[in-house]
Amino acid sequence: MTNSRLTVIGAGVIGLSCAWRAASAGLQVTLLDPAPASGASWVAGGMLAPVTEAWPGEEALLELGVESVRRWPGFAEEVAAAAGRPAGLRTEGTVVVATGAGDRAELDTLAGYLARLGRAVERLSGRELRRLEPALGPDVRGGLSVPDDLAVDNRMLLAALRAAAERAGAAVVESAARAVLDDGTRVTGVRTDGAELPSDLVLVSAGAHSAALHPVLRGLVRPVKGEILRLAHRAGAFPAPSRTVRALVDGRPVYAVPRNGGGLVIGATQAETGFDTEVTVGGVRDLLRDAERVLPGIAEYALAESAAGLRPGSPDNLPLVGAVGPEGLLVATGHHRNGMLLAPVTADAVLALLHGRPVPESVRAADPHRFRGAHQHPEEVARARVDQR
Ligand code: GLY
Repeated sequence: MTNSRLTVIGAGVIGLSCAWRAASAGLQVTLLDPAPASGASWVAGGMLAPVTEAWPGEEALLELGVESVRRWPGFAEEVAAAAGRPAGLRTEGTVVVATGAGDRAELDTLAGYLARLGRAVERLSGRELRRLEPALGPDVRGGLSVPDDLAVDNRMLLAALRAAAERAGAAVVESAARAVLDDGTRVTGVRTDGAELPSDLVLVSAGAHSAALHPVLRGLVRPVKGEILRLAHRAGAFPAPSRTVRALVDGRPVYAVPRNGGGLVIGATQAETGFDTEVTVGGVRDLLRDAERVLPGIAEYALAESAAGLRPGSPDNLPLVGAVGPEGLLVATGHHRNGMLLAPVTADAVLALLHGRPVPESVRAADPHRFRGAHQHPEEVARARVDQR
């Protein structure tokens, strides 16, 4: 395995993490991406928040996320040591807060659901929350403290991962992959613009663009647009919270993820409008209106950036991590809202697969074979999922 030529398609957080692990294990790794470390990974807020983003019915995703957040501190330390630069992990934790009565009822439902799963979270009044985070405004009426939900500066992480991967010997080639090539039995390479890259192993980790790369992935990954804003603290403005704040404002979710230097990333809208990365006026308005209800001090901040990314959505919101289709083809995609969170456990699973070892228990639910015949049309996949219930 160590002399095998592995081509990783996509240099976002998942591709970079897997390429780094594989190159460190001695594989000859080529990382293909026309714009490395861009796309959804560049836009991301950086929440590592399996509990505060939990959703009833998505227990396998919660389990996978909890497993990955447990791995995050060690992963960050290893990346930083390998890269010679910090990985950007923040360990201050998360609060999830509610404004109106309906929002508080929804948080009660979330707290009850988590308690039934044995994941108790601490309930706090508005006053207790403001003692923890004085930046929270008077409209915040109650919430939960979730100290184990962490955050990462996505851009620091991407820079560190790229440095770590290159130091381990991975070659980054700035070219677009058009198709994974196979001879009917096993992969033979990757077609790029005007060239073919011979490969013994191919990992598709091209986020929202993954589905077009091989017929077995058709219909399994779709773009889910998210708009974010980056705010910079200005002299005299109220200090930003130190924890990530996830909020419900009249039923709408909004979050603020702190950055070093007092800045905040405010996110995120969610829309299914194809491969569209334009930031809309309505998206900016909604994010600012809702974030300001929770953190009134941001009115004095500078609006430094607006951006949109395409989350790679899968039919059941779980990622696809495993071997599928012709021999030698691996996929690590479909991470939807959780690419940053799931990078450590995904990279460990891909490394295990490359060595023919079993993946971590929690990753089994992400096996792409759960979609019977991964080459089916989306409607057939949806029907197959209905049949499975
Ligand atoms: N994980 C947050 C988001 O996708 O917006």
